Amino acid sequence: MSGPDDRAGDYGFVVVASRLPVDRVEEADGGTSWRPSPGGLVAALEPVMRKADGVWVGWTGGAGPELGAFEAGGLQLFGVGLSAEQVRGHYEGFCNATLWPLYHDVIAQPVFDRDWWDRYQEVNRRFARAAAGLAAPGATIWVHDYQLQLVPRMIREQRSDVRIGFFNHIPFPCYEIFAQLPWRRQVVGGLLGADLLGFQRRNDAGNFLRASRRAWGALTRGSTVRPERGRQVRPVRAAAFPISVDSAALEQIARQQEVTARAREIRDLLGDPDLVLLGIDRLDYTKGILHRLNAYGELLSEGRLGPRTVLVQVASPSRERVEAYRALRDEVEVTVSRINGEHAELGSPPVHYLHQTYPREEMAALYLAADVMLVTPLRDGMNLVSKEYVASRYDENGTLVLSEFTGAADELGGAFLVNPYDTEGLKGAIVRAATIGRAEARRRMRAMRRRVAEYDVAHWAATFLEALNQAPTGDSASGGAAPG
Ligand code: F6P
Repeated sequence: MSGPDDRAGDYGFVVVASRLPVDRVEEADGGTSWRPSPGGLVAALEPVMRKADGVWVGWTGGAGPELGAFEAGGLQLFGVGLSAEQVRGHYEGFCNATLWPLYHDVIAQPVFDRDWWDRYQEVNRRFARAAAGLAAPGATIWVHDYQLQLVPRMIREQRSDVRIGFFNHIPFPCYEIFAQLPWRRQVVGGLLGADLLGFQRRNDAGNFLRASRRAWGALTRGSTVRPERGRQVRPVRAAAFPISVDSAALEQIARQQEVTARAREIRDLLGDPDLVLLGIDRLDYTKGILHRLNAYGELLSEGRLGPRTVLVQVASPSRERVEAYRALRDEVEVTVSRINGEHAELGSPPVHYLHQTYPREEMAALYLAADVMLVTPLRDGMNLVSKEYVASRYDENGTLVLSEFTGAADELGGAFLVNPYDTEGLKGAIVRAATIGRAEARRRMRAMRRRVAEYDVAHWAATFLEALNQAPTGDSASGGAAPG
């Protein structure tokens, strides 16, 4: 194991995430440049990165050579390169066709492919090597998400002097499901290389603690894991840190004159309906889009929503090379056509389906144009769309139907909570959310807005980094303070 002197870099804070927070822009002269892609995670981490001399290690989203260190929009970045085979095996295969369905309660059947596992290890090693080479002595390294679960231990093996945090953005499944993974021991061992492991919900942290006992043979006490029996004991803490959104920024966007005007225009374009229902999701089988569509179709058949009702369903393209996602797209589009075929009148379809990605301003206008937001995942680590909706509703109007299987359900008590598998229950909640009195709707929205304003993404990042700072590293060489 090497110390801080031979492998250390210059950065006091290193973020390691599958994706870089930038989009590639093709220039008119044939060259390319990078534009920062706005998002909550970057917004929360940018000030920390500036203060602590930070760098973000990530992947551009396509096959290509290592980009190395570069700067975009004032952010210091390091682009890891992946071959086409690694993109197929790591990203499309092991991340999106093995771990994603496994960690989302096997809603789709996970594929266990040994070559994909090899690519997963290879890519994790690449990220770990980059991070270990960039971190200054005693630096803090924050690794993100299921794509990089082996990275904490791989860094630890190269750098005993750094503090390592890991945050899992998606659920961590119960052991009975996790145990299906042929490489469960290696994954738990990879994560246990961190000093602090953050999860969305207490249940996720609890599931991980159990997995560390069963798959790794660790001892646990409360939220602390002792991974190494008999050797120098390095404790690891596993706890919940529910992520959030940049509430103030979202509200500011929604308050822009053009955005409120666009919200009115959207309602006009929809034919000035009495009731606008809205769904905004990545086109993913975890989001419960079909369950929502079917419930809506039945409500229309039963005439329970009134004739002047529309559903706007934005389903942004996602992971289109993965088979399960292609199949889902077909099924969603057939369902939308069926509902429109059965219920449309000329010029006024009851479902407006948009397989597109929109800028933040258009999303804010859609949120403001809605009467009822439908968020019905079958399983979701947090679901930031529900929090974005609440943060954008500065007018305190609008109601939210929210699946109890989302992390957000723990916090948004003003929502109409539903089990999306219970079609009658879901239909009842939609009708209630659409017909509730104005004062009651406002009371509910206000309570949710208070929560989202206080517990925003900056609060999440600060809380995690403070806990990482306080995590006992159990290594005398370690101990640089995490940036605040
Ligand atoms: O929620 C997990 C996550 O990987 C996010 O980090 C990301 O924004 C989203 O899913 C989309 O994932 P992908 O990187 O596959 O487009």
